[in-house]
Amino acid sequence: MNARIIGTGSYLPERVVHNTELEKLMDTTDEWIRERTGIEQRHYAAEGETTVDMAEHAARRAIEAAGLAPGDIDLIVFATATPDLVFPNCGTLLQARLGCTGAPAFSVEAACSGFIYALSIADKFVRAGEAKRALVVGAETLTRITDFTDRTTAILFADGAGAVVLAASEEPGILSTQLHADGSYKDLLYCTGGVSKGYPPDSGNRAVIRMAGRETFKVAVTMLGNSVDEVLAKNGLPKSAINWLVPHQANIRIIQAVARKLDLPMERVIVTVQDHGNTSAASVPLALDTGVRDGRIRKGDLILLEAFGGGFTWGAALVRM
Ligand code: COA
Repeated sequence: MNARIIGTGSYLPERVVHNTELEKLMDTTDEWIRERTGIEQRHYAAEGETTVDMAEHAARRAIEAAGLAPGDIDLIVFATATPDLVFPNCGTLLQARLGCTGAPAFSVEAACSGFIYALSIADKFVRAGEAKRALVVGAETLTRITDFTDRTTAILFADGAGAVVLAASEEPGILSTQLHADGSYKDLLYCTGGVSKGYPPDSGNRAVIRMAGRETFKVAVTMLGNSVDEVLAKNGLPKSAINWLVPHQANIRIIQAVARKLDLPMERVIVTVQDHGNTSAASVPLALDTGVRDGRIRKGDLILLEAFGGGFTWGAALVRM
């Protein structure tokens, strides 16, 4: 049995923040942000709008696109680093809203690689016959852990949600997923506090993202390059078989480096970073939904998803749509 993606959905909060608005808040320029990152604008959640609020919109759209009703869902795997509550987990909060109670629902925390991790887990449930229609979500309110006094990170991160529905199928779907982590890099990209460790003095019980950008960039390019090679080799497929690259949207220069590695022209890459910024676990399903809804990604296409994030964690998935 295979797991096929039969529906995608996404949601972006209403408020759009252009680079020019950030120019007024910090010592930065629209030109610097565009040149170094490719980002032009991003979306910020409204006050009180939570990760699960956004996930609910994305999930309902994915379920509708799949031609299903919420009650058909028998597994929820929810990737986020910015949960509404410590517990219940976001998967169960979403389940209560959708009304598909009884089935397993849980969260996965692997920072920006969260969606690839969640997809890989859900794929295994379906292949093992333990789920038939799984909802896989990536959603984040990163602005709640953004330090707006740190221009090196504040320009990057944003909010949003994306989701897919996986269905058991005899046709090929998710061909394989390759996950990796190297915790020895934990100090290059992290959040400054948490429930168990506590919060830094004078932080007002608020944790924020810290990143060594240049070092993170180098490791990301190397590991993502290795990952895409690995997933193709595992499936015995050449680079030329790929129809679309759907990458994590952290920085246009990282995306271009991976595309070069795959000998793929940028016309074959779904790029949303200019409009969405880095939405962490939401970024890959947001980009996937964009490509599906605007008609570029079609049934039968071979797509390669990849992501890299804090930990470090990284991974890739090769999917027949
Ligand atoms: N506006 C203007 N100048 C800025 C700035 C900003 N927002 N942020 C940093 N700068 C300055 C730096 O202070 C530095 O100045 P200096 O040369 O006087 O010291 C200069 O710009 C270059 O900084 P550097 O950090 O070398 O820039 P960069 O080209 O590496 O770009 C990132 C910075 C963060 C955009 C880039 O490193 C990056 O994208 N890293 C990986 C991000 C990533 O993928 N993270 C998440 C993984 S999920």
